[in-house]
Amino acid sequence: KKPLIIDTDPGIDDAAAITLLVDDPSVDIKLIASVSGNVGVGHTTNNALKLLAFLGRRIPVAKGAAAPLMRDNRFATEAHGKGGMGMFDFPEPDTSLLTANNAVLEERRVLMESDEPVTLLTLGPLTNIALLFATFPEVKEHVERIVMMGGSTQRGNIGVYGEFNISVDPEAAKMVFRSGVPILMVGLDIGRKAHLVVDDLDRMEGTGEVGVMIGSLFRSYDGGHIENGIKMYDPSAALAMVEPDMFTMQDAFVDVEISSPLTLGATVVDYDGIISDDHNVSVCVDVDVERFRERFVERIASVERN
Ligand code: BDR
Ligand code: CA
Repeated sequence: KKPLIIDTDPGIDDAAAITLLVDDPSVDIKLIASVSGNVGVGHTTNNALKLLAFLGRRIPVAKGAAAPLMRDNRFATEAHGKGGMGMFDFPEPDTSLLTANNAVLEERRVLMESDEPVTLLTLGPLTNIALLFATFPEVKEHVERIVMMGGSTQRGNIGVYGEFNISVDPEAAKMVFRSGVPILMVGLDIGRKAHLVVDDLDRMEGTGEVGVMIGSLFRSYDGGHIENGIKMYDPSAALAMVEPDMFTMQDAFVDVEISSPLTLGATVVDYDGIISDDHNVSVCVDVDVERFRERFVERIASVERN
């Protein structure tokens, strides 16, 4: 099993991505680090702890950055609800899992203590990772790669070209893209294509308590406007990491726009060496949607509460 850190802002689709991975035979989740994003970091931390209490999994949770590096918080409560995880009735958070140290120190600890390189799966703004690399650059050589839900090869969601995780903290994202650490980028266009339909939720809810929990979260996603398909942003990154055969990747140079008000947070994806031949990112460019939907439901159905 390969060691994994999940840096995340749960978040309905974050919760689904974590659930998809808790029993994956190829990864060992060493740490969940929270970050401010969809909702404030108090909520995202609590939501991670509640999800783990529900699933009965003992994974340490470290509280991360409370705000972007240089900008004010921007939340996504219209998509994820006021508290960030819809209306599902979770058990009380398991606070015994909360680490004494913050996310940057815990991420550093896991990276430095591990015998083998650690993968970072990032599902929220990149604030913690930028702080980690700036404070402890020696950790970079212990990172296998970053698998990132973020950016877009096409259009955005909070800007015409700006995707949420990148645009909320564009300076942090720029630092991470320039860090020299290999990145697999799974952007908005993939999450939009990899969608579930309401019928998938019905099937999933028939498979057990975990299916009911995930189904219920997604029924309140986007304010309940799910009839035209339920976008699987963070779950796409999770599955691109462990089942890459369903996806198509292409190498590119990627950088982030941080100054233009028109295109703030845009990920500029250069396949053709126009800006640079230095391919710093493997970009996910396509997904087999039918297989994705099947595997999503199968995986959720196989997770049992402990
Ligand atoms: C990303 O933003 C968040 O709302 C989702 O959890 C996902 O990580 C999509 O832009
Ligand atoms: Ca997220």
